[in-house]
Amino acid sequence: MENYSRRGFIGKAVGAVAAVGAIASLTAMKKTWDPLASTKAAGFTTLDMSIYKEGEMAVEKWRGKPIFVLKQTSEMLKTLTAKQKERIVMVGDEGFLINIGICTHLGCIPAYRSQSEDFLCPCHGGMYDHSGDVIKDPPPRGFDIPPFKIDGKKLVLGEEGPEYRKMKNNGITL
Ligand code: FES
Repeated sequence: MENYSRRGFIGKAVGAVAAVGAIASLTAMKKTWDPLASTKAAGFTTLDMSIYKEGEMAVEKWRGKPIFVLKQTSEMLKTLTAKQKERIVMVGDEGFLINIGICTHLGCIPAYRSQSEDFLCPCHGGMYDHSGDVIKDPPPRGFDIPPFKIDGKKLVLGEEGPEYRKMKNNGITL
């Protein structure tokens, strides 16, 4: 009888240890299946638009692509046509070029020329103005604009806000 109860106790103890082990390994497996927090956030890049200086080109990164950020001076804004202005992202009363910095011809990375306030692609001589619109062949169109959402003084790349959707609907970007 004593033997039986001891066996029963040992059996229960072994069972409890096995159950704890099973729960621990299930928890570990679930952690493996769940995407990492960093992976979930990887599609979005938040830019603080208050740090950029007028007329100075900055290159950010979104989903591995270079993102050109060029805060327009009031002089630059004045020279833009109505169509070119449609490409400009207004954050409050400040205008920005926010473009994927990849040539729409064959994918080279154009260089910004601050003297002439334009972009020159080294591969085949394509050119873009300071709104990102194409001004010299062979690129078939202006720079593409990444999906963005304006959030106060911040810009969330990877999220489609109303301003971006309007650009897309108007054929300003693909
Ligand atoms: S890749 Fe830019 S002009 Fe050809």
